[in-house]
Parts: sequence; C-alpha cells; structure tokens
Amino acid sequence: MKLIILAGGGGTRLFPLSRTCLPKQFLKLGNTDSLLTQTVKRFLPLVKAADIVVVTNQEYMHHVKTELAACGAGAAHILLEPVARNTAPAIALAVRFCLDELHSASDDILFVTPADHIIHPAETFARNVRQAVELAALAKLVTFGIKPDKPETGYGYIQAGASCGPGYEVVSFREKPDKDTAAAYLTAGNYYWNSGMFAFTAGCIMEEFSRYAPAIYQLASAPLPAVVDKFATMPNISIDYAVAEKSARVVMAPLTAYWNDIGSWDAIYDVLDKDEAGNALNGDCLPIDCSKTLMLGRNRLIAGIGLEDVLVVETDDVIVVAKRGESQKVKDVVAELKARG
Ligand code: GDD
Ligand code: MG
Repeated sequence: MKLIILAGGGGTRLFPLSRTCLPKQFLKLGNTDSLLTQTVKRFLPLVKAADIVVVTNQEYMHHVKTELAACGAGAAHILLEPVARNTAPAIALAVRFCLDELHSASDDILFVTPADHIIHPAETFARNVRQAVELAALAKLVTFGIKPDKPETGYGYIQAGASCGPGYEVVSFREKPDKDTAAAYLTAGNYYWNSGMFAFTAGCIMEEFSRYAPAIYQLASAPLPAVVDKFATMPNISIDYAVAEKSARVVMAPLTAYWNDIGSWDAIYDVLDKDEAGNALNGDCLPIDCSKTLMLGRNRLIAGIGLEDVLVVETDDVIVVAKRGESQKVKDVVAELKARG
C-alpha cells in the first residue's frame, strides 16, 4: 500500500488563523502536533515512511519537510504541484509518481487522505483502513462513510445500498448538495457523509479517470516529468465531482473512528478540552463569569466578562468575535475582505 496525503489546499474557513499562508493542515489546535503531523502519525503503524507521498506546492514545502522529519517520516516523498488544480489532478499526479518512481503495479493499493482532519483512536482507525484495503483489492473505489447528524452542505453524501464484504455498495454519490437535498438525505437514513479519504488500486483509478475524466487521464498517462510540465493545463476539479459522483465502482466502508474535519470555529470548539463552565481556552485567556465560549489567543490577553456562547479568535492583525453556531459565516468575512482588495 502507498499513502497519498493531500496537503496543498489553502483553506480559509478558519480565518483569521488559517489563511493562504498557513492553511488548516499546519495548524496546531489544542495539540502539540499540527493536523498534518497527526495525519502522518496515524498512518505510520500501517505504512512505511518511504511509501508515503505528500502532494503539496512550493509555498508549503518547507512546512511539510520540517514536519515529516520531526515525526520520523523523513523518508516520505514530497511531490510539488506547479499550480493548484484541486484534488483530482493532485491525485492523478501522485498516482503517476507511485507508478513511475515507487514501482507500484496496477494492483497496488493507493490510499488517499486529506491532511487536515481529526480522527481517533488510532486502533479503530487502523481497523477501518484494513477493511477499506480489503474492498479496494476487489478493484473497487472505496470511500468512508460517516453517519450524518445534521444537513451539512460542505460534504459529499454517499447513498449506501446492499452489503459488500465489510462495507456497502454505493447507489449514488452526491458532492455538496444544497440544504434541502441534504435535509432529505438526513431523513432518508441510508445516506452517509463522505470522509474525503479514498482507497483504490492504481489500475482502478486510472480506468475511472479514463472513463470520466479523459483530460486528466491523458495527462496522467505521460511520464512523470511531462505530467508536471503540463500540470497547469489540467482541469480544476475535485476527485468527488470528477470521479466519485460518476463511477459505478464506488463502495463504502463505514468509518467507526471519531472523525471531524473541523471546517469551522464551532467544530474547533467541539473538539477542544473545556473548563467546568464549558469554556475552551487556548493562549492567554481570562474568562470572568463566562460559559461555553471559545477563546483562542495568539499574542494578547483575551479577557471576557459575562459571555455565553461566544467565539473569540485573536491574531496579530484581526480579531474575530462570533456567536456560537454562526461561524460558517467567517467565509463571508473573507469574501468581503477579498472584495475590498
Ligand atoms: N495537493 C493538493 N492540491 N491538495 C489539495 C488541493 C490541491 O489543489 N485542494 C485541496 N487539497 C487538499 C486539502 O488540503 C484537503 O486536505 C483535501 O485536499 C480535501 O480538500 P478540501 O478542499 O478540504 O475538500 P472539502 O473539504 O471541500 O471536501 C472534501 O472533504 C469532505 C470531508 O471533509 C470532499 O471529499 C467531500 O466529499 C467530503 O465530505
Ligand atoms: Mg476539507
């Protein structure tokens, strides 16, 4: 098995802490390890460091290299994309690297994971991975499903069908549905959130690229230097839209480990340790008569008085104060700032 870690996204959902210059995968959230390091450590019992490929770009290369060395995975490979083209081209590039440089055969299993999720405990996760590997060996495209508890529109939804080995056949896959559709899926009961991790053989994904994303397939069929050279001409599309929504070979392994893609400050509040009043405090914080707050300070003291259900995130140049439950709207702040120039 080879592990492909996608670490090139430039997320802004955790603005002001996460920005293009320091996206979510490099943040340390209530833990001494960044999310990238946590990801690598989660897989080290399952795969040799020399069989890990981290796909990122020049801007993040230094961070990645330092973190890999620090967690004992210095032998992992770092693959640089000349430009960001979303996850389908990033995966195609990594597949080509595995075939050409790591001598993967077409039945070698490639496991793809984002670099910015929280998943634990490691033992449960390892069991889930083994089940996925078992399904991938049947030349299936394996996704991981999580039982949904709200009509989240930022995820892919997997419609589970009949049993298939340790998992399920997939009837349909729908990436980021609108709110009403997501609500209908939640009510239907046989829909799962897509975790963003995938497992397949090298041969299976190349065949699915050739069927559903011919432009990507054509480029990914060239030798590695040519793929890198022409990478900028790849379509900008995620693997979810390019392949998972269309493929007839998708199956789902249940993800029974705890999973959180911490896509918002509300989700961060949920995962951090709290004091007895339910405050999640990080940095220099002084809460007086506060409950259920998140205070995340980088440089300055945050003193809160009489606050309830409030999120405060402080950085050098920006302070965000938000009501709990409203933090998805941070993207509106980012959009407004972009519009201002
Ligand atoms: N190398 C590289 N290049 N990595 C990338 C790029 C790129 O151009 N774009 C994104 N990534 C990385 C991100 O850093 C992240 O680790 C991962 O790929 C997934 O990208 P996201 O942009 O975070 O995707 P998403 O969260 O909108 O949606 C995906 O994840 C959801 C679960 O969190 C989808 O797979 C959904 O279906 C899924 O539900
Ligand atoms: Mg994500």
